[in-house]
Amino acid sequence: MDTKRIIIAIDGHSSCGKSTFAKAIAARLGYIFIDTGAMYRAVTLYALENGAINSGIVDDDMVVRMLDEINIDFRFNPQRGASDIYVNGDLVEGKIRTIEVSNCVSAVSSIGAVRSKLVAMQQQMGLRRGVVMDGRDIGTVVFPEAELKIYMTADAMVRAQRRYKELVAAGDSVTLEEIYENVVSRDKADMSRAISPLRKADDALVLDNSNMSVEEQMAWFMERYEEVLSK
Ligand code: DC
Repeated sequence: MDTKRIIIAIDGHSSCGKSTFAKAIAARLGYIFIDTGAMYRAVTLYALENGAINSGIVDDDMVVRMLDEINIDFRFNPQRGASDIYVNGDLVEGKIRTIEVSNCVSAVSSIGAVRSKLVAMQQQMGLRRGVVMDGRDIGTVVFPEAELKIYMTADAMVRAQRRYKELVAAGDSVTLEEIYENVVSRDKADMSRAISPLRKADDALVLDNSNMSVEEQMAWFMERYEEVLSK
């Protein structure tokens, strides 16, 4: 008998390893991994490159007018074991995680029309089930009926240090202080925005991974997953 294919929603704070975790789960289960933060980042990058963000100030109306010009798609990259994100056919995976994009993405993701467009795309991607989706509103708005919801968090300084190491390894010249500021301010913005703020769904399981390895998180996850399947 085929194993039941479910939707796994992973929400939580910035930089707490949601994507790494979601990607590992997808590889383990043979599911599709969808990084919804990458979609908000791709819209932000497009807005930055096309004049809708100047000196860090986002022109909401201009972003909304641009939305029809922005075609996002994911293509599986076997080397990474995950999908790369493309905007209008251009690979933007390497450009969306800079501090410049990180500093503007909360403002762009608080625009209602941006959210409606991306949420509709995400719902479409989940129609065939067997997906692990990570973001801020997956268990509350995109898939409130997801069978397994996880709310991830970790100490803010631990998160800043992890992100700092990644950016330095990628050749960015950033300071730990600016990364910490960004992590804390994004948490605040994501949790206080008017539309679909980050919050734990009532039925989500909390995973604080401040002191957990990826292996420990995976063991924690597999127990919960088996429980859901046996219901
Ligand atoms: O997961 P991330 O840090 O790459 O996400 C970037 C930003 O996108 C995050 O600060 C808030 C926004 N976001 C969102 O509003 N809703 C989602 N489902 C995913 C991300």
